[in-house]
Amino acid sequence: MKPVRIGLLGLGTVGGGTVNVLARNREEIARRAGRAIEVVQAAVRDPGKARICGTGGIALCGDPVEVVDNPDIEIVVEVIGGTGIARELVLRAIGNRKHVVTANKALIALHGNEVFAAAHEKGVTVAFESAVAGGIPIIKAIREGLAGNRIDRIAGIVNGTSNYILSEMREHRRGFDDVLGEAQRLGYAEEDPSFDVEGVDAAHKLTILAAIAFGIPLQFSRVHTEGIAGLHLEDIAHAEQLGYRIRHLGIAWRRPGGVELRVHPTLVPRRHLLASVDGVMNAVLVHADAVGSTLYYGAGAGAEPTASAVVADLVDVVRALTTDPENRVPHLAFQPDAMSELGVLDRDEAGSAWYLRMTAADRPGVLAEIATVLGEAGISIEAVVQPEPPRGAHFAKLVMLTHTVSEGRMRDALGRVERLDVVDGEVVALRVEHLEDCPA
Ligand code: NDP
Ligand code: HSE
Repeated sequence: MKPVRIGLLGLGTVGGGTVNVLARNREEIARRAGRAIEVVQAAVRDPGKARICGTGGIALCGDPVEVVDNPDIEIVVEVIGGTGIARELVLRAIGNRKHVVTANKALIALHGNEVFAAAHEKGVTVAFESAVAGGIPIIKAIREGLAGNRIDRIAGIVNGTSNYILSEMREHRRGFDDVLGEAQRLGYAEEDPSFDVEGVDAAHKLTILAAIAFGIPLQFSRVHTEGIAGLHLEDIAHAEQLGYRIRHLGIAWRRPGGVELRVHPTLVPRRHLLASVDGVMNAVLVHADAVGSTLYYGAGAGAEPTASAVVADLVDVVRALTTDPENRVPHLAFQPDAMSELGVLDRDEAGSAWYLRMTAADRPGVLAEIATVLGEAGISIEAVVQPEPPRGAHFAKLVMLTHTVSEGRMRDALGRVERLDVVDGEVVALRVEHLEDCPA
């Protein structure tokens, strides 16, 4: 049988990794797909640039429209990134009745509803395994492996760059900017690395995970998003002393009144498996009614781990080339006419326990004053630690853990605590999740 001809939009970290994996595992891949897969053309910005892959047999071009309009190409792999030209090219490829494989989580999270509707109309597939958690086959696991379950909660470390930075800061006390620079050199970070460290990339991925887990539309704008950029080394250290580790988590949680969608630095118990996920590794914990908890772990970024997922999508698409489009796995796991009406809860309705750090006057009665304000808001304190203040200091640090409370109530109480004369400056507040098997 003739090889399937594919065209790449982009030949950087992920595109280059894809070419290398396709070349190295050519025979194994053909045995799985039923046909060989051949890259015939690739669009790049600078055709003269050095590449991480060989380009023999691949026609390089500077105009990506050439690739999507090339009649010889059956599958287009979009690894340019962003939501501008990438959206136009993907829609044009679909319009030309080409299947698309993309690693672009921003595109899927922001424009996926439009892209999938167009693909459905043209009877083509848009595959996006590599858009979430790099090489971990999490889309397939949730969409197909857990199809018999009612999924209650997903909690995941889904940004490799942030996890790499947090791990290096904690283990080696390295500075934030230094580690971020290294993550960029290693090809982990987004073109705009603020997407990584401000939590936007994780929010893109959580949007996708929530859609396929709960059968809701993609709703990126409803994700409450905080990144790791404002984290202090001292909070990482206090968390350790209290038996926790700070992880940047994306959480999608089906509650009785709707879904919580949030991304933020989180204290997780040090004994929990998510606490051991270091470096560029990702992990996604899924709790579902029949199977219970399942955990998926692997490299979350980088050339070949991501290529692993891109090539798996290519094999899936090739296998399905001759099938009736109506009988393919739905893009977002649920049939397009069977999406749920379940709403997304407001940020203030989300419930969690909290870690608080504040600077307060070092004299008798101060702790009671603060505890009274929290108590009046119905917030109970689980633990208080007062690290030894420097000799002669009039202010001391107070570190507290609270029991679970809604975010709105905590926010009001923190405003009142900060207005107390005995409290100096802002209170640092981080959420704590125990991630026990009691999701509802
Ligand atoms: P890179 O910056 O390494 O590669 C982007 C490629 O696109 C380059 O080859 C570049 O050309 C080409 N390109 C950019 N603009 C144009 C244009 N206008 N016309 C033609 N070619 C263009 O990005 P990555 O490979 O890291 O990421 C690609 C996508 O994969 C992004 O959506 C990213 O979020 C996603 N992703 C990345 C992962 C990673 O670990 N890096 C992991 C999972 C997903 P040139 O080389 O000439 O500059
Ligand atoms: N910048 C992303 C990350 C790439 O660090 O996780 C993988 O999606």
